[in-house]
Amino acid sequence: MRFNEKCEFLKELILSAGEIMRSADLAREDMVQSKGSANFVTEYDLATQEFLIKKISEAIPTARFIAEEKENNNEALSAEDCFIIDPIDGTANFINGLKHSCISLALVSRGVTVFGAIYDPYFNELFYAKRGEGAYLNEKPIHTSSREGDRALVVFGSSPYCKDTLGAPTLTLIERCLDAFGDIRRLGSAALDLAYIAAGRFDLFFELKLSVWDFAAGEFIIREAGGAVSQLRGEPLSLDRPCSVFAGNAANHKRLLELATDIKI
Ligand code: IPD
Ligand code: CA
Ligand code: CA
Repeated sequence: MRFNEKCEFLKELILSAGEIMRSADLAREDMVQSKGSANFVTEYDLATQEFLIKKISEAIPTARFIAEEKENNNEALSAEDCFIIDPIDGTANFINGLKHSCISLALVSRGVTVFGAIYDPYFNELFYAKRGEGAYLNEKPIHTSSREGDRALVVFGSSPYCKDTLGAPTLTLIERCLDAFGDIRRLGSAALDLAYIAAGRFDLFFELKLSVWDFAAGEFIIREAGGAVSQLRGEPLSLDRPCSVFAGNAANHKRLLELATDIKI
């Protein structure tokens, strides 16, 4: 399958997968299982992941996958077509009936991200980017914002699965952000936070630890939308292990890293 054809196929596929989330019966107590402290998985996470892997494998038999709800091997990253999937990002929102969750899908080819898509099935918003061709929301071009200082809104993640170690530094940094920028938000889906940065709805994002399925598509879409993304000390994000994520427009991103120079994680 040619690259453009592949991208169109993936866009259609992620829209179809959204129906699994939209039609979920959230009243059923037995749909949720615990994976650890404050960390849950539902049968809809598993169904969405299975649907995506099955359909992609049928179309691209050599495809490899890194997906949240399965065992993974980083060797997949060097494949011609490695798909990185978060079947539901914002599972806690999903379980509670807060309609702010999404599906995140990135295509990495021999270690380089070439396509990313984030779909919010509740607002029917598809954020996507193709390498070198810019970023789009429902086919309209999007760009990161130019707001700075007290015009800027910061959205952040609390690294809820590592709150014993990362809760305190997160709160220190968020207090500094409240002082340096306009206001703060915590919405509960890292992938949508990143998509909203790309669309200029938020101006800054940080979370001290995220997994590759949380950020692979979002990082790529932000870059194609003109924004900056790095780890805490300015290093590029690592696809082969969890890392911190700092994102925004270039000026804000630099200021945020300065505010975090003495933060230790
Ligand atoms: C989580 C969400 C949340 C973020 C966590 C992620 P999940 O993903 O993106 O906003 O703070 O770090 O793990 O578990 O809902 O897929
Ligand atoms: Ca996630
Ligand atoms: Ca998830």
